[in-house]
Amino acid sequence: MTLHLTKASTHPARVVAVSPNTRQLLIPLFAVLSSLLLMAALLLLAGKVEAESPAPNKYVAERIALMSSQKKALQDLTAMTRDYIAFDRSGARAARRSLIRSTRRIPRHFRRDVTDLSSHARGGIWTNWADFKRHADDAEKAARALNTRSASGLRRSLPRLISACHNCHQIYRNTPREFTTH
Ligand code: HEC
Repeated sequence: MTLHLTKASTHPARVVAVSPNTRQLLIPLFAVLSSLLLMAALLLLAGKVEAESPAPNKYVAERIALMSSQKKALQDLTAMTRDYIAFDRSGARAARRSLIRSTRRIPRHFRRDVTDLSSHARGGIWTNWADFKRHADDAEKAARALNTRSASGLRRSLPRLISACHNCHQIYRNTPREFTTH
């Protein structure tokens, strides 16, 4: 007890020296932490805005959903050719059927000349309707021509479908998004 008191009173400088040091460390730490918090809050906000503004127009939402389902089917098939997942004939057949169905529905889903802020459709669709339909038809034919008997058959027949998706997007879709088509 006496020893402690003596130490404290004979080395008062130590007590003073520690706190500015600690403060010097804490201030930048707080600054970093608060900017991280701010960033997190902004990210959350951005995510919220994104999630709350998907296609306010019903027709636009539907055609985007159709396209997204095609992307999903195409991704499944592509994965099968790359051994991410084992080749599964019935899964491949189901994906082919779904792609035939969805590519056939493209013209119906784009018939109305409507758009909204979430859309990346170009106005040219409705001024070149016959050509747009031809591109949809090419995609449907390529979907029908998919060979789902084996992984190698799929590997040979997928590129034609992927080009059909790309060909149409190149002309009739703006600003390609991440993960589109394949
Ligand atoms: C006949 C033209 C056409 C064909 C064929 C076509 N697309 Fe699209 N696709 C479009 C247009 C136009 C858009 C933009 C729609 C919008 O934003 O309103 C689009 C958008 C998309 C999107 C983005 C959806 C989003 O989240 O905004 C994906 C993914 C997509 N297509 C996948 C495919 C796949 C996969 C294929 C082939 C199996 C395909 N598309 C074939 C015209 C086509």
